[in-house]
Amino acid sequence: MRLNKFLSNSGVASRRKCDQIILDGKVTVNGKVVNELGVNINEKRDKIEVEGKEIKLPSSFVYIKLNKPKGYACTAHDEKGRKTIYDLIDCEERLFSIGRLDYDTEGLILLTNDGDFANMVAHPKYALEKEYQVTIEGEIKESELAVLRKGVVVNGERMPSAKVSLLSIENNLSKVSVIINEGQNRQVRRMFEAIGRDIKLLKRVRIGTVKLGGLMRGKYKDLTEDELNALVRNK
Ligand code: URA
Repeated sequence: MRLNKFLSNSGVASRRKCDQIILDGKVTVNGKVVNELGVNINEKRDKIEVEGKEIKLPSSFVYIKLNKPKGYACTAHDEKGRKTIYDLIDCEERLFSIGRLDYDTEGLILLTNDGDFANMVAHPKYALEKEYQVTIEGEIKESELAVLRKGVVVNGERMPSAKVSLLSIENNLSKVSVIINEGQNRQVRRMFEAIGRDIKLLKRVRIGTVKLGGLMRGKYKDLTEDELNALVRNK
């Protein structure tokens, strides 16, 4: 098996990030640093370590959905020492999230230790829809929604077009549904900044066919067979 595939299948990181970890000289095979790509290993015989920690293929795959609350980082070790999504999950397996949400964003995050599955779901080629609910103060105008739909220009760069619809206006708060396919950094926040609107609450409610549903904040559960199959079928 290729070393990068072994590492990503073991839940170390995505295949691309594993390449970088290898190039950074952090990986040893039987005690020797391997810092080039394309190396094959024998997963049954060889001892693979990342920064001195032995890495093993998972004995079983785990696929979960989490309702990330606001105020949690989507990283294993936050450099600012903030709470992370891993503080919410009690699992022996080394999991990694498929994509990320900002610290202040809440909602649906998928986690797994199955590197192939994660690569597939996250791959830009498949551009799974991601649906967000955006709450802003005040009454949003139809003309503003039209600008968001068309693709706002941020720092001279046109953001990809989005499916945008008004969900409700109540108590001086507007709730807007935004569906995007790409996952550029802070994409939804930048779209609303571009029209001069501050987001009060940003929540992801769907990835492809998987919905957040009634999952409580901070809680997680296994994806069902149907949810898993539908994600894979979408490919
Ligand atoms: N867009 C954002 O701006 N933030 C997120 O967390 C996700 C999408």
